[in-house]
Amino acid sequence: MSTQCFVTGGSGFIGQHLLAHLSATGHEAWVLMRHAANLETLREQVRQLGGEPSRIQAVQGDLNHPNLGLSATDRQRIASARVVFHVAAQFAWGLSMEQARAVNVKGALEVARLSASQHSRLLMVGGYMLQNSAHLTSIGIDQQCPEHTDWPAVYRRVGGYEASKLEAHFAVIRYMQAQRADYTIVHPATVCGHSESGHILAGQPVAELIRNLATGKLTAIPGSTRHWLPLVSVDYLVALMVAAAFDPAMANQQALALDEFSPNLQGLVTHIAHTLEVQTPRRHLPLGPLGWLLKIPGVATHFGTSPESLNFIRTERFDMTHSRKLESRYQLKHADLALTLEKTARFVRHGLLN
Ligand SMILES: NC(=O)c1ccc[n+]([C@@H]2O[C@H](COP(=O)([O-])OP(=O)(O)OC[C@H]3O[C@@H](n4cnc5c(N)ncnc54)[C@H](OP(=O)(O)O)[C@@H]3O)[C@@H](O)[C@H]2O)c1
Repeated sequence: MSTQCFVTGGSGFIGQHLLAHLSATGHEAWVLMRHAANLETLREQVRQLGGEPSRIQAVQGDLNHPNLGLSATDRQRIASARVVFHVAAQFAWGLSMEQARAVNVKGALEVARLSASQHSRLLMVGGYMLQNSAHLTSIGIDQQCPEHTDWPAVYRRVGGYEASKLEAHFAVIRYMQAQRADYTIVHPATVCGHSESGHILAGQPVAELIRNLATGKLTAIPGSTRHWLPLVSVDYLVALMVAAAFDPAMANQQALALDEFSPNLQGLVTHIAHTLEVQTPRRHLPLGPLGWLLKIPGVATHFGTSPESLNFIRTERFDMTHSRKLESRYQLKHADLALTLEKTARFVRHGLLN
């Protein structure tokens, strides 16, 4: 059945794959674009990813603007969207609190308002750190009463990007519950490339890791043998998002998109290094000292890594109960992660050579 959807962040990595999946399965999508004139480029990207470009339309807008900067006509166009997929975010390290809040918190609340006002299901993309209760407590988030959290202190501790994603999550849930509006949240682990093509965009953290290995910048493994970077392929992620978005049982629920068989960081780095035929780093660097090192001016740029990115390297395991139920209901399966990583590594190397 074809349904109308409204998508923010459609031009980004996850967004492009989401549009390809939605349009290939018969759905129509209106995409919020900061530069709607780039629609044809986006349609071509969607076509290359296996989607149906004629089912993609654009409306001009910006998360940074009141009412998303939508014209009255465009607002009317998207009014019948059954699902609003909120994927957009300012995804970068080193953001100030003001920058990150403007787009990731205020922008998310604008999307929530639009969704609630037209009785659409809001499918919001969070992040897997939101499913790590011990971590949230350790950085000072009051999970019982999030509005009592000292947010500026959280921004100082974990940086603008992560803090704004966490603040947005609690603010949007609070708003949607007050409106008795329907929402679902999917929390991706760090996203690697497509399990068949290896497709990934250059700005993604996994692409950055691969480039750092390929260019000899990664000479030691962050953390210990207990540390891992939980991963998920982009195709599994978007399949889970779409299943959750249309499932009545997922109203006001959350699900984690994470491959439990992600290797530890040492295994991940070794596997990518073998694929790239480069030297495998052997030494481990504890995260604490590494974080301090990366704060020295120029060091983070030199090594192509930000201290903020280290927060996502974990030792904890996650509760997958909800996701397993969704997986079995929709017969979702993770592709072989080792193969997906090889394809992603080759895709990134191809980009470096061309
Ligand atoms: N990738 C991961 O590993 C990962 C893991 C966990 C969670 N996430 C979450 O997944 C979501 C998508 O991530 P991604 O990797 O696809 O990011 P991405 O490739 O950086 O894409 C970001 C998207 O947001 C849009 N955007 C940024 N600022 C905007 C604004 N002011 N108004 C409207 N649109 C704006 C961008 O549009 P332009 O083309 O105009 O720049 C782009 O379409 C984010 O919420 C991120 O926090 C990602």
